[in-house]
Amino acid sequence: MSDHLLALEAFSGRQLQALIDRAIELKGESKAGKRQQQLAGKTVCLLFDKPSTRTRVSFESATYGLDGKVIFMSSKDSQLGRGEPLKDTARVLARYVDGIVVRTFGQEIVEELARYSGVPVINALTDLHHPCQILSDMMTVIEHKGALAPLKVVWIGDGNNMANSWIEAASVLGFSLTLACPEGFDPDGEILKRAQERADKPIVLVRDPAEAIADADVVNVDVWASMGQEEEQEARAKLFAPYQLDKRLLAGAKGDAIVLHCLPAHREEEITEEVLEGPQSVVFDQAENKMHIHKAILEHFVG
Ligand code: CP
Ligand code: NVA
Repeated sequence: MSDHLLALEAFSGRQLQALIDRAIELKGESKAGKRQQQLAGKTVCLLFDKPSTRTRVSFESATYGLDGKVIFMSSKDSQLGRGEPLKDTARVLARYVDGIVVRTFGQEIVEELARYSGVPVINALTDLHHPCQILSDMMTVIEHKGALAPLKVVWIGDGNNMANSWIEAASVLGFSLTLACPEGFDPDGEILKRAQERADKPIVLVRDPAEAIADADVVNVDVWASMGQEEEQEARAKLFAPYQLDKRLLAGAKGDAIVLHCLPAHREEEITEEVLEGPQSVVFDQAENKMHIHKAILEHFVG
């Protein structure tokens, strides 16, 4: 396995499945009150350039839960914010800590940190990917549905970082994925092309959300304007209105379909209150699973 977790396509289906299986095991152990010490003596640095509630706290909690220690640093409070080169920062941090979890803008930033750091670097969201989130999402699907391979997974809305990581996951783990994105908001073209070439199940991009959601087992939505796109919020809200996941649209999916949203959610924008709080929504299981998958990730890459 790669020494870093930057994007899902660097891994095999077997490797990703092993991380998910391990997270389910660790979740069971922690619910049973078993002491976990896989990070004893280890320190993890969280280097965040963008806001976070779930990812930050679940990584911190996961590290403490494995008996490790955490240092949180926002880049604007560090010398990075004053222009110190990434390659210097990477080499310095590696002298102090055993792993670096990064949330930032460009994917090239996590790649450069990984190239220079000498300790594992874990991508906790970039503009291009959100790999740890998709691992916890897939874990949630497996818990509720048993397995991914027979399912039709659907993505409705912006072709953003989450969509890109779902595309890679579908190609690596082998499940069917249909995305409905408005024109001009497609997922990354290269990622989609590579994934379609590699996939043994269809990965399809359409415009019409009703067409995409037909017979879906798993329905995913996310905010219409991601972090860093706040100025586009108003324009996007108009364009994306037909992509809102409401009861009527959801009725096109299978009756037992589950609804995922990585959160934070904007109610009455990408999803209605009724659907988010409805019986098909598993968003809080999904949020909880971030902590368990982060334990599996930290154990594997840092432990
Ligand atoms: N889902 C997710 O990554 O949430 P945060 O932005 O709160 O970390
Ligand atoms: N696509 C969203 C995900 C937030 C967890 C963003 O990048 O802001």
